[in-house]
Amino acid sequence: ALVEKGNYRHFMEKEIHDQPDSCRNTLSAYLDPIAGKAHAPGGFDFTAIDRIQIVACGTASYAGQIGRYLFERLAGLPVDVEIASEFRYRDPAVAKGTLAVAVSQSGETADTLAALRWCKDKGLTTAAIVNAHQSTMAREADVMWPTHAGPEIGVASTKAFTAQVSVLTALAVAAAAQRGRIDAAQEAALVAHLLEAPRLLAESLHVEDAIHAIAPEIAKARDVLYLGRGPMYPLALEGALKLKEISYIHAEGYAAGELKHGPIALVDEQTPVIVIAPTDDFFEKTVSNMSEVIARGGRVILITDAQGAAHAPEGARVITAPTCDPVIAPLVMAASIQLLAYHVAVIKGADVDQPRNLAKSVTVE
Ligand code: G6P
Repeated sequence: ALVEKGNYRHFMEKEIHDQPDSCRNTLSAYLDPIAGKAHAPGGFDFTAIDRIQIVACGTASYAGQIGRYLFERLAGLPVDVEIASEFRYRDPAVAKGTLAVAVSQSGETADTLAALRWCKDKGLTTAAIVNAHQSTMAREADVMWPTHAGPEIGVASTKAFTAQVSVLTALAVAAAAQRGRIDAAQEAALVAHLLEAPRLLAESLHVEDAIHAIAPEIAKARDVLYLGRGPMYPLALEGALKLKEISYIHAEGYAAGELKHGPIALVDEQTPVIVIAPTDDFFEKTVSNMSEVIARGGRVILITDAQGAAHAPEGARVITAPTCDPVIAPLVMAASIQLLAYHVAVIKGADVDQPRNLAKSVTVE
């Protein structure tokens, strides 16, 4: 079917706004709201595996990195995440009992597919989290875990990313329950939080006015830093990637704790530092990072929730996203970094849906 932009200027803008629906559609395949349970469609025995190896490229690899935090914290399952192009050529030593998981919107990315095949050849069980359900990865993996984001046209991935994070979060909850790391009440509570994600994602789109106001300043920057801790670290990487891809501004994502080990040397009045820090166990630590930036004349833009806004260091400008449970914060915070990249690209007059030199799906090496 022909996909239309409707009232939106670009597919990317439409796809950002599609996310409450695409997240809801995706989660409905993994959650049972009545029973308060999470499951893999078709069932999967997470007690039969000892570790998970995620392989992916680009945005999908950042979804994988967020998945790692959740699987390790909730389910106690060790997870490795690696860029598929590195994994496939380095003769990795994979332990028996490893589940290999490819994450891919298209299900056709050459390096991810090769990494998946390599794992299969080694006798590992393979799974593919894919948005294209008829794709090569969907066919070849032992297990297919679908995202239901619908067709994604914009080259820079948005709704496929939040759908991948939705799947990984739901599966981490399922794995935690099966492995006896959480009891039925804890599972039901996590499922209830996840069920709130689509509504809170919709609410988070209201940051658009605040983002719009800040975008002209970012559009003037030559370099932009993104910082985060915990699951917000991969989201910082994704924020930097989105900005690079569509606005052609140089951006780097860093773990906030690494600030002192290099990136702080870049901080000056010209370099916006975007900090993603909802209220969580890491918030206080990230506040001290922000203070370090501000003390050096840096300009901090903090993406947080209401409580975080109340505790923001003086001098930080704040974008306030909805308050949510930490388990869904990557989903709720994602919209802000996507909208920021989008509005900066529009100001720069860039071809948002077809950025130069980039392809939607990289099927050759
Ligand atoms: C390309 C796209 C990215 C995407 C990456 C992986 O580089 O431009 O947006 O994240 O491929 O694609 P996949 O289809 O495997 O998720």
